[in-house]
Amino acid sequence: MAAFPQRMAPILTLWLAVCLSGALAVERANFKTCDQSAFCKRQRALNPGQSPYRALLETMELTNSRLTLQLKNDKNKVRLLLELYRLQGNITRVKINELKPLKPRYEVPDVLIREPPTEPLSLLSQDANGVVLSLGAESQRVIVSALPFRLDIMEGRDVLLSLNSRGLLAFEHLRIRKDTFSYLITGTLASVWNNVKSVFSRQADRETEEANLEDEAMLDEKDEEGMWDETFKSFTDTKPNGPTAVGLDFSLPGVEHVYGIPEHADSLRLKTTDNGDPYRLYNLDVFQYELDNPMALYGSVPVMLAHNAQRTTGMFWLNAAETWVDISSNTAGKGSSETPQTDVRWFSESGIIDVFIMLGPTPKDVFSQYASLTGTQAFPLLAALAYHQCRWNYNDQEDVLSVDAGFDEHDIPYDFIWLDIEHTDGKRYFTWDTNKFPTPKEMLQGLMDKKRKMVTIVDPHIKVDSSYKIHNEIKSQGFYTKNKDGGDYEGWCWPGSAGYPDFTREDMRAWWASMFAYDQYEGSMENLYTWNDMNEPSIFNGPEITMHKDSKHGEWEHRDLHNLYGFYVQKATAEGLIQRSGGVERPFVLTRAFFAGSQRYGAVWTGDNAAEWSHLKISIPMCLSMGLVGIAFCGADVGGFFKSPSSELLVRWYQTGAYQPFFRAHAHLDTTRREPWLFGPENTALIREVVRQRYSLLPYWYQQFYHTYHTGHPVMRPLWVEYPQDPATYTLEDEFLIGRDLLVHPVTEEGATGVTAYLPGKEEVWFDVHTFQKHNGGQNLYIPVTMSSIPVFQRGGSIIPRKLRVRRSSSCMEHDPYTLYVALSHQRAAEGELYIDDGHTFNFEKREFIHRRLSFANNNLSSVNLAPEAHFSTLSTIERIVMVGATRPTKATLKTADGQMSQLEFDFDASMSVLTLRKPGMNAGTDWTVMLQ
Ligand code: NOJ
Repeated sequence: MAAFPQRMAPILTLWLAVCLSGALAVERANFKTCDQSAFCKRQRALNPGQSPYRALLETMELTNSRLTLQLKNDKNKVRLLLELYRLQGNITRVKINELKPLKPRYEVPDVLIREPPTEPLSLLSQDANGVVLSLGAESQRVIVSALPFRLDIMEGRDVLLSLNSRGLLAFEHLRIRKDTFSYLITGTLASVWNNVKSVFSRQADRETEEANLEDEAMLDEKDEEGMWDETFKSFTDTKPNGPTAVGLDFSLPGVEHVYGIPEHADSLRLKTTDNGDPYRLYNLDVFQYELDNPMALYGSVPVMLAHNAQRTTGMFWLNAAETWVDISSNTAGKGSSETPQTDVRWFSESGIIDVFIMLGPTPKDVFSQYASLTGTQAFPLLAALAYHQCRWNYNDQEDVLSVDAGFDEHDIPYDFIWLDIEHTDGKRYFTWDTNKFPTPKEMLQGLMDKKRKMVTIVDPHIKVDSSYKIHNEIKSQGFYTKNKDGGDYEGWCWPGSAGYPDFTREDMRAWWASMFAYDQYEGSMENLYTWNDMNEPSIFNGPEITMHKDSKHGEWEHRDLHNLYGFYVQKATAEGLIQRSGGVERPFVLTRAFFAGSQRYGAVWTGDNAAEWSHLKISIPMCLSMGLVGIAFCGADVGGFFKSPSSELLVRWYQTGAYQPFFRAHAHLDTTRREPWLFGPENTALIREVVRQRYSLLPYWYQQFYHTYHTGHPVMRPLWVEYPQDPATYTLEDEFLIGRDLLVHPVTEEGATGVTAYLPGKEEVWFDVHTFQKHNGGQNLYIPVTMSSIPVFQRGGSIIPRKLRVRRSSSCMEHDPYTLYVALSHQRAAEGELYIDDGHTFNFEKREFIHRRLSFANNNLSSVNLAPEAHFSTLSTIERIVMVGATRPTKATLKTADGQMSQLEFDFDASMSVLTLRKPGMNAGTDWTVMLQ
């Protein structure tokens, strides 16, 4: 602590004091507003309707799948190159770059899973005003208007989306600083060269004229404050490339609801930004983040979805620099007869415009379209879907042992115990504090014996210490990010002075990955997994608590790729965990910072929330927003990170978290201990009950993740995804669906005695999973609640498998039998799936799994093979079938794969219409039918 610099004292004091104090407040002054971000201010100052851009139709070239066209800025004469592609799967890609940039501009690598395959484009018509191209599918066309330049994507007579319809395309070209020697030299050389050329031909004459006009126009451009350097607080950002921002507007006729662009602690439906700052996408460690505002947070996914009853579309703005998004709408003052319209405007500090327009038409089409570009959620280990116990910190091996024993004593299952930064030797990652953790392998073996696992934290800030192997290797290989002068960049973080490995380098990532090998990471074993925190990167003494934008990753500035840093950290770590097992085992890596595509590498959590009811509530829209943009494996710290929750809040948080994808309790160092048994027997029982509910539903969660791995559909989804035509669902954010079939409305109000849940679908019936009470869809339902209530409903028409035996951990449940919950629809039918594999290896990719379709129709319940070419065997049987909304049969006959018939025992509860078939006992991986008569 002695080495802590003076300027850091306030931050440290805050970190330490916060848990004991009352209200939390973000230190807003640490983070820029749009007005304090020079490019944001410049872009926002542009007025609509004054576009200087024209499309030069004579430059158009159309090959099979690519249209190119020059755009000219009539003010500064600079030309841009527009490329337009039709991509497979109803996606249109528009790229805009400078025609002749002074040097290359950054184009985001590694995020797209491949060069997206194209489809043919064809010219429908052309005149002096523009061109019309056919987009192939469904009578879709693109109209390119020349003056001013504008693109309209049409279907039939409807405009789906327009680009630059408000004329806010703004592309700051690279330039040489006017007051520099090189500017004068370059300017003179250019005009000499132009004159030499003109001696030779008339064509050259024309070019010279143009070039001179361009030079003059550029000379006329005024430098504004903040273009060549920008000071924020005590930090000066030198901007050797000057102004490089890019921006573009999009209009969405008929759209009133837009979603996505996480991460913000804000509502699910995005708000208009007319009266405040735009939504900001810039990965930042925002200490004590505030709710309901558009400030940036730890991660960024530049993807927005637009939805109305007819169609869902998406925009993916592939740019990793600081980005802001403005949203305005003509529906703010309701009651007008105008067609509703939402206007969106994106602007980024550098790079190019590269936007993918995903044309749906359904929400699930948009998810698949986005997944075809950036990939799907990594299929997690089954255990990772179970319960995680974390705190900053479990102090030593004894502490770990006693917490572990506490779970057994109180008969609460858990799968992972986590170690935060204090487990290391002085915040040197990949090491252990040998006083507190003298025998990590013994500890891990103890956990392994109980089929449990551990996670340790591995942050990307590396202590600058010549006795630390990791630092020495990174330094000697030149792997650190460089400062603007070419030396190793240093910042201040948990270990004190730290270097930041350049994760954008493939060779650096390969080296980092190799550090997870069992013989490199001493004390590690197969049941040890990883947590990447502070990877925005968080730098306590950096501008906005992050890295200087003028630091360097090879040729590129940090500015160009800031939002990708955390993505790369998690990618390298996940690859390390895969490699250490020779490619056999699935990794588990949790990250705080993320970008588009991060879903491929693991889970994300919502960072440092607080033990407040408002934070519990916002966990729902925050995770829903991530799911909409591909990141299905999301969770919030259960209990709240800062401050100490009341027992009521803690219980309600467990009840909510148990129904969210990533289920981990976590707490700040200075909070009082809060393991589930520390709040009295009643609360222990409530928490035990809900953790057990989570475990019983693991087969369903696992199957949902298998599905999302293939489709990109979110697991935790807003209701409008399944009921896209029902406007009553568009703004719901206090309830959600898991897959299609479970609806959850957690209790998130203090002292609640009831909640009102909206049950969607006029044709649907919903069954309370606890009481089996039946409710019609298409209504608001008031549900009285007690402390033990978690309103959860199963959709009539679905079949959900559960495992009901209580075990220590999910791995202990591997061979346990299933109970099938069959909820009948109005039509007395139901469908579901059962997916089984080994739960932890990549062998499912070699088709080692069981995937079955379960269906009930015409009084027969049967299991058929959905993947006949796959092979896997299970010891699990079906031990019970619970059919809700059923009638009493006279007989229930089981027919197994070998043709054997047997009579099944059953009970029928007439008051609730529940039929329970006892001990059918058939193997879960085989064909069978139960016939009711
Ligand atoms: C910040 C993380 O958000 C938090 O979860 C963690 O406990 C601390 N860093 C310490 O590592």
